[in-house]
Amino acid sequence: MKTLIACYSYSGNTLTVAQKLQEMINADFTRVEPVKDRWYVIKAVHAYMEKKWPIKPCTTDIDDYDCLIVCCPVWASRTPSGVNQYLEELENVSGKKCAALVTMGGDGSQIATTQIMNALEAEGMEFMESLIIGGSAQKSGEWENMVQDFAGKFMDE
Ligand SMILES: Cc1cc2nc3c(=O)[nH]c(=O)nc-3n(C[C@H](O)[C@H](O)[C@H](O)COP(=O)(O)O)c2cc1C
Repeated sequence: MKTLIACYSYSGNTLTVAQKLQEMINADFTRVEPVKDRWYVIKAVHAYMEKKWPIKPCTTDIDDYDCLIVCCPVWASRTPSGVNQYLEELENVSGKKCAALVTMGGDGSQIATTQIMNALEAEGMEFMESLIIGGSAQKSGEWENMVQDFAGKFMDE
């Protein structure tokens, strides 16, 4: 399965996890980066309001791929605004598989994975799996096993 990992990471946690996944499944990688950084509270409020921020050019046409894995941190329980923009800019997605991987500081609930799933299913993609890596799994190192299990889903086909 030819897979593209699209990764947004502000402080590096999601990037570390997504790069480990990339090594395991031998996927292509594109970085989602907002054009402009904003203050912490604005990040959280805009994520909460499901706003979109302009992003730098990255791979949004997935015609060449069978599967897309969107990776990002959880902000205010939600997807960061740059990721909302990325999801809107995607092209040639219909009929392809997709998945979501998020990291978060706590271990509580979040709706970012549901937002990603809903946005991609609305474009005709088939959602396979979500992986949520909370703060305790990041600290204990358990995240590596979680990524290994998740990676298995993309290697079998
Ligand atoms: C603006 C902002 C909002 C956040 N909101 C949450 C949250 O609602 N729940 C949570 O568990 N962690 C929250 N976090 C923590 C991040 O999700 C966590 O540190 C994540 O692993 C960071 O990933 P990154 O290093 O790839 O940016 C927030 C962080 C930021 C910067």
